Amino acid sequence: MNFLASPLRVGAKTAPNRIVNQPMECNDADETGNPTDLTFDRYRKLAQGGAGIIVVEALTITQESRARKNQLGIYEKTAPNLERLVKEMKGINAQPLILFQITHSGQQSGAGFSRLVSVYPLPGQETHILTEAEIEKIGDDFAKAALIAKQVGADGIDFKQCHGYLCAEMLRPVNARKDRYGGSFERRTRFFSETMEKIKKAVGVGGSFVLGSRFSVYEGIPGGFGTSGPAEVIEDLSEPLAFVRLMEKAGVDYINVSAGIPAITPEIVRPTKNYPEGVYRHFGWAKAMKKQVRVPIIGSGYTYLRDGKNDLKEPDPSRKSFLYWAEKNIKEGVCDMVGIGRQSLADPLFAKKMIEGKASEVNYCIACGSCSQLLRAQAQTGCPVYFDYYKKLLKEIQKNKG
Ligand SMILES: Cc1cc2nc3c(=O)[nH]c(=O)nc-3n(C[C@H](O)[C@H](O)[C@H](O)COP(=O)(O)O)c2cc1C
Ligand code: SF4
Repeated sequence: MNFLASPLRVGAKTAPNRIVNQPMECNDADETGNPTDLTFDRYRKLAQGGAGIIVVEALTITQESRARKNQLGIYEKTAPNLERLVKEMKGINAQPLILFQITHSGQQSGAGFSRLVSVYPLPGQETHILTEAEIEKIGDDFAKAALIAKQVGADGIDFKQCHGYLCAEMLRPVNARKDRYGGSFERRTRFFSETMEKIKKAVGVGGSFVLGSRFSVYEGIPGGFGTSGPAEVIEDLSEPLAFVRLMEKAGVDYINVSAGIPAITPEIVRPTKNYPEGVYRHFGWAKAMKKQVRVPIIGSGYTYLRDGKNDLKEPDPSRKSFLYWAEKNIKEGVCDMVGIGRQSLADPLFAKKMIEGKASEVNYCIACGSCSQLLRAQAQTGCPVYFDYYKKLLKEIQKNKG
């Protein structure tokens, strides 16, 4: 049985297959957060690529605090272009579910061009600590963004709680705020619960709009989520396990399980040859979360597997490829869908090729990190290995660095 090609019910909609194009921010919007020709081009290719779910990259809900200079934004002013984006994608391929990942960058906001804000004080950094009223307003803005996503024709949203941005900060044991949003587990998860209620009110309950969320199960920093206290760093999944149950109860239609913080613990987020076994950790996290809930679980960290040409210590190459693990993990209930991040930049047609049995035609990601280098430099981001446009951009950056 080809599990990858089988459809899956996600909320009230159906994903045509089990591959998810993970959200991949590429910093190519204009200065107002509107998509540019480059953005349209990328998403047209991804639509052609035919993944079961395409999660459109982190769209900021505010221009005031954002991580990327040219981050896509989701406001009334960008709505007409977002509508065109969805329309064009659906015109090319009506099958994939198109979800918008909505985010607030919090302590990852770029201090040079936007306002650095955070939930709790950051040692050695000047930052504005958000007040209770400001946090409530951010919750309202998430709900507005979800409504815009619905109005412009997206199939749903992904409420971003992963990778160290505002909603991830909120969840950490080190968030010792004394008000309603810090301290106990109940208070640290309150922002999620309240905002979900606001989102449901805005988009209407019982409809077919998909509400999902991506979160980092273990961040790898002292007091990060997935530890047992403000100064602890050892992995302890008690809170993440409770949190996925809480999310399901609150009405999410799927949970996308990620880990780490790209700016601080990148090797946890993105397995590479430096620590190939990181892929197994991702499998383990997805499996542990899946046991807690009935909603579909999306697994992360699959890119490094490639066609089996990787540094995993497995003597039989056929037992260490993407295809092998994707089929095995879905079959054995480790996860319901497999997410690909970097691989979708290297080859936007990856899903189609895999499902049509053309794995040998894939341009495989070599996990070189060049796309992340572009993003860190606030440049337009893509894969310099397979696309000349980004190769030139990377060269310029390297030249300017001296
Ligand atoms: C250039 C780049 C942009 C990314 N943008 C996002 C994003 O917008 N939202 C998100 O949740 N994760 C983002 N990620 C993380 C990926 O979605 C993914 O979790 C990570 O690359 C590991 O998966 P992989 O091994 O399949 O690449 C980004 C990663 C890279 C390299
Ligand atoms: S730049 Fe390197 S890591 Fe990024 S998608 Fe291309 S091959 Fe993969």
